[in-house]
Amino acid sequence: MTGLDRAAYDRDGFLVLERYLPAEDCDALQTRMAELVAEFDPGPVRTIFSARDQSHARDLYFQDSGGAIRFFFEEEATDERTERALNKVGHALHDLDPVFDRISRQPRLAELAAALGFVQPLLLQSMYLFKQPQIGAEVGWHQDATYLHTQPSTVTGFWIALDDADRENGCLLALPGAHCGPLRQRFHRVGAELITTELDATPWPRIEPVALEVPRGSLVVLHGLLPHASAANRSDRLRHAYSLHLIDGQAVYDTDNWLQRPGLPLRGFA
Ligand code: FE2
Repeated sequence: MTGLDRAAYDRDGFLVLERYLPAEDCDALQTRMAELVAEFDPGPVRTIFSARDQSHARDLYFQDSGGAIRFFFEEEATDERTERALNKVGHALHDLDPVFDRISRQPRLAELAAALGFVQPLLLQSMYLFKQPQIGAEVGWHQDATYLHTQPSTVTGFWIALDDADRENGCLLALPGAHCGPLRQRFHRVGAELITTELDATPWPRIEPVALEVPRGSLVVLHGLLPHASAANRSDRLRHAYSLHLIDGQAVYDTDNWLQRPGLPLRGFA
């Protein structure tokens, strides 16, 4: 593809591609998610996704979600309406739902992966992130390679704004250039448990975070080692996003990664 500012990506560890996806694609993802949520019966037990204390990690509903479409609730949710109480849906939407499959595997995204240097791109994980009005929780500073690890590290995020994202409704925050530092932690399987292991105590560099305020349809490429975060959404506005994570099939996917997909082989863009 033309116009990819590879030098900026290598320097900053992220790349903002404004209005990369057409409005029809954003509409299609939001409409399809509304249908999935309407069909979903939460039952008596709700799994809360907490970026604060990782309490979901003890839950089999989360542990087995790598090859499924699972629904996770917001910690502060009091609204009876499921569509206003969810934190996210993941983690194999792109393989199990035809609409998410089609949009995730469109040629423009395959071209983007190739331009970023992927030789054998594999679509590992997808998440629909709600960041609900008023209650959408903060996501603390982290590196995605903490959660999705290959040797060497190849995980790369495609984060797509399905609503305008700004400081008030919890847009992405990033530390430019900090992807050059080491991986600090791994969240992984040890026996039947998911635990966080410290790898490197190097603090995040003292860099002023940048707020990645983007209009709907924009795609942010996130290097797997880039520290990023997002603030809580205390506004009255929606801030939906769709996030895809790619790895390269030429790298080794660690067997102790939390995300396992028994019976659901990884696929690329084809
Ligand atoms: Fe992330």
